[in-house]
Amino acid sequence: MDLHLLKAIATPDERDAVDTHLGPPTGGWDGGARRSRDAHTASGGHEARAERHRLLPALHAVQSRIGWISEGAVNYLAERLTVPPADIFGVATFYGLLSTVPRPPRVLHLCDDIGCRGKGGDALCRTVEQAAGPAYHGPDGTHHTISEATAWMRSPCLGLCDHAPAALLTEAGPKPAARLFGPVTAAEAVAVLEGGAAPAGRDRIRIPQAGDPGLRLLRRVGVVDPASLDDYRAHGGYLSLRRAFEIGPDAVTREVTEAKLAGRGGAAFPTGRKWAAVAGQGVRPHYLICNADESEPGTFKDRAVMEGDPFAVIESMTIAGFATGCDQGYIYLRGEYPEARTRLSQAIEAARRHGLLGPNVMGRGFRFEIEIREGAGAYICGEETAIFNSIEGLRGEPRNKPPFPFQSGLFGKPTLVNNVETLVNVLEILRIGGSAYAAIGTEGSTGPRLFCLSGCVERPGVYEVPFGASLRDLLTLAGGVAGGRPLQAVLLGGAAGVFVRPDELDIPLTFEGVRAAGATLGSGVIMAFDDRVDMLDVVLRIASFFRDESCGQCVPCRVGTVRQEEALHRLKAGRARGGLPTELALLEEIGLAMKDASICGLGQTAYAAVESAVKRLHLFAGARTG
Ligand SMILES: Cc1cc2nc3c(=O)[nH]c(=O)nc-3n(C[C@H](O)[C@H](O)[C@H](O)COP(=O)(O)O)c2cc1C
Ligand code: SF4
Ligand code: FES
Repeated sequence: MDLHLLKAIATPDERDAVDTHLGPPTGGWDGGARRSRDAHTASGGHEARAERHRLLPALHAVQSRIGWISEGAVNYLAERLTVPPADIFGVATFYGLLSTVPRPPRVLHLCDDIGCRGKGGDALCRTVEQAAGPAYHGPDGTHHTISEATAWMRSPCLGLCDHAPAALLTEAGPKPAARLFGPVTAAEAVAVLEGGAAPAGRDRIRIPQAGDPGLRLLRRVGVVDPASLDDYRAHGGYLSLRRAFEIGPDAVTREVTEAKLAGRGGAAFPTGRKWAAVAGQGVRPHYLICNADESEPGTFKDRAVMEGDPFAVIESMTIAGFATGCDQGYIYLRGEYPEARTRLSQAIEAARRHGLLGPNVMGRGFRFEIEIREGAGAYICGEETAIFNSIEGLRGEPRNKPPFPFQSGLFGKPTLVNNVETLVNVLEILRIGGSAYAAIGTEGSTGPRLFCLSGCVERPGVYEVPFGASLRDLLTLAGGVAGGRPLQAVLLGGAAGVFVRPDELDIPLTFEGVRAAGATLGSGVIMAFDDRVDMLDVVLRIASFFRDESCGQCVPCRVGTVRQEEALHRLKAGRARGGLPTELALLEEIGLAMKDASICGLGQTAYAAVESAVKRLHLFAGARTG
């Protein structure tokens, strides 16, 4: 192995964390005791390099045991996986939840993103700063040395916007723990920083329609015990998989096509077409990835499904695997969802025990396994090709397309990527049949749809409606603007979506309806802002989110997101360069360059919300011209 390691040596705890995950080393070439023949012959390099896909889980193992990843730990991982230390460092520094500088074992992440800001998230952070000292990461990227056992950090959206302001407590050690909770008060946050536990007993799933007999996707959420396979079965669980086995894989895909199901992850691609494309590939194996990264600010619907109905995710993945010829599925789960991880792990274990996963699913001769892979705080890793790189142990940077995932995806093999909500729809399609499903909703947007209502609404939470309801209907379902205050704007579709005005609430929430209105449904975000919210502050937070989350691989996005944020800061300060019209023209030019020339959807949509704030909300009308 031609690696030039630094002198740093892993501590016994770091080695143990890695070995617990990778198994003990087998010889001197992969970090074990050196034997005399190791000086003469090299062995095991190929096998070790083939294990590179275990890099991110191994980094997680060190991070959650020690609280950060030292040079010694990087060196040990380099030996174990035969990967250069610089390469490992490049991966470790890619992710927000991993630290390559000393970090206290307990970290309280406080959300200051757009949904939580309107609920006092930013003020909370400032109060905590006064009471407990600066955040571990300053907003400018500096690190503050924290002598205490607990540090705090500002965080982008934690996927708990219905309980804003939200917090995540991570605790490293021999028994690592993590808890997502909210709403959190400044007093509670300070108590946690002083060593107290995260406040217990708070409900994390908010389904205001729970128990409504008209629900299809959410009918079990908040009703069944998510840990009980029996309960799941008693409420219709595993009937759809049975049906899939009865009709066979091609007929399953035909039903999905007939249902006209479109992806719920943001791009609305026809699911049946994608399934047929993967199934038709001669190369083997095929892989399935359930995209549970859910990091779009304002999105929390998939978390509700995974926490409240985890067996539905497992069953629908099994059906997708059966229809498309995959025998291995991965759930790529965002790292900030510890409870979803627990629920899904329990469900996978239970399904395995009962022959619903494994070498012979339901005795039908179909082999299917599911593994959970956790992200580590990188929004870009929800992009389907970035997931491939992340799972393979590389930096989570998107790949160029073509080749498309159905041709060459994970490990270079045909891969099906579907969102959690998309997959769960398949259970309903097989339950009632593709044509009956297609009759729900509208001609161009079929089936039920989940929406994440948050911000200044009376009853935030996940709502299910058939496609066709208007934005006004959804806001009414959620009780309207909290406290009856005037509505200022609604963000539709997430940070990559657009703002709409109060006079645009009759937009039908269908793919065709929002397209005609120059908007997008994105991941189903509906975030309301009342008249008290400083919209420029919200827009600046979105711009800083994109700057922070850009993977930096392509110039338009890497530079454009920085320049966009700078221009907005100048506009805020009343120092528009060359006057307001010139500055706005520059902003637009940057936005168009990002839209036209970026490799992936992140850069292509980084200007969308900003543009709508300028053009629809007239954010800078009457602004000082500098
Ligand atoms: C920056 C970025 C982040 C994304 N994040 C997610 C995500 O968290 N979950 C998701 O399902 N799709 C996400 N997507 C969309 C995926 O690339 C992909 O279209 C989707 O998972 C396909 O599944 P579907 O057809 O079921 O919607 C993201 C796309 C981009 C560009
Ligand atoms: S558009 Fe942005 S996030 Fe996407 S590949 Fe380019 S730099 Fe990375
Ligand atoms: S959890 Fe704070 S904005 Fe989503």
